[in-house]
Amino acid sequence: MIKLGVIYGGISTEHDVSVMSAKSVIENLDKEKYEIHEIYINKYGKWFENDEEIYNLIWVLKELDVVFPVLHGLGGEDGTIQGMLEMLQVPYVGCGVLASSVGMDKVYTKIVFEKAGIPQATYVYVKKNKDGYAIIDENFNEEEFKLDKITSKLNFPMFVKPSNSGSSVGVKKATCDTELKAAIENAAQYDTKILVEQGINGREVECAILDGEQILASTVGEIMSAEDFYSFDAKYNIPESKTVIPADISEQQIEEIRELAVKAFKSIDGKGLSRVDFFVEKGTDKIYINEINTLPGFTKISMYPKLFEAVGVSYSELLDKLIQNAMK
Ligand SMILES: Nc1ncnc2c1ncn2[C@@H]1O[C@H](COP(=O)(O)OP(=O)(O)O)[C@@H](O)[C@H]1O
Ligand SMILES: [Mg+2]
Repeated sequence: MIKLGVIYGGISTEHDVSVMSAKSVIENLDKEKYEIHEIYINKYGKWFENDEEIYNLIWVLKELDVVFPVLHGLGGEDGTIQGMLEMLQVPYVGCGVLASSVGMDKVYTKIVFEKAGIPQATYVYVKKNKDGYAIIDENFNEEEFKLDKITSKLNFPMFVKPSNSGSSVGVKKATCDTELKAAIENAAQYDTKILVEQGINGREVECAILDGEQILASTVGEIMSAEDFYSFDAKYNIPESKTVIPADISEQQIEEIRELAVKAFKSIDGKGLSRVDFFVEKGTDKIYINEINTLPGFTKISMYPKLFEAVGVSYSELLDKLIQNAMK
């Protein structure tokens, strides 16, 4: 029996999503193969196993053969837990410290994608400081913040996001100066780093990566959001949001997206798994990368497992592969 720790919950805004993902993962794990240790982190950062608070965390983790951190967002997807597991020399599923922290931070992801030549929406990097806000230029110098510096570079609509966020928390669409200002103030509640992006009128498509002996890219799926954009509610609360696999785009576009997904995964030094999200622009059919998620949603109806199911890898098989790869 493999002693597998499934760590879930966590301090991020995606706590509840993680709880749903972990429930699915645990349900679908082969109980003949794994001795499952369910380790829950509550919203305040306290750790529990079987409802009992863990006092000797190092001892508990050191006992495990492998860990699957089914955590999303800060404290789980950002390299921090990965760093702790590295220090304890416990194998774990997914990306290492660097890929996790780069993938979690939208501004730094964009800098890496830019270097890799992956097409993406143009952007302005804004930072909150003690005097208000500053615009960070290409050389990482702070410039005086003025709204027209953004509006001269980007057109409405724009998307404003806290650099470290997930599940669309803190993400707002801005269609005028007033909304832009409000959206920046809103994003600043979640992070001091703020990303303002050119809005793209496109279809949203996603590709899953499974990295073992070689890097496998799944087919491409499309998100049919029930709202104007794929907000938190559209993701989790509005049942009308749908996924279509494979996406109704050309064979050639699917191939291009799969190649770009692998490129993006390599560019952040990814390992294990990731879901890479794109836009296909209406009218031009141009492909833009949106983001990479190093620990994507893992419920049975989530895009990541569904994309592999579509190419013949069942949810349980996928879990086995991820765990095997982590232990290698
Ligand atoms: N540049 C953009 N153009 C158009 N829509 C966008 C853009 N950026 C984000 N969105 C919309 O906002 C959603 C959430 O943004 P995203 O960057 O994916 O954040 P998260 O990491 O929270 O998922 C996307 O799924 C998409 O619907
Ligand atoms: Mg997203």
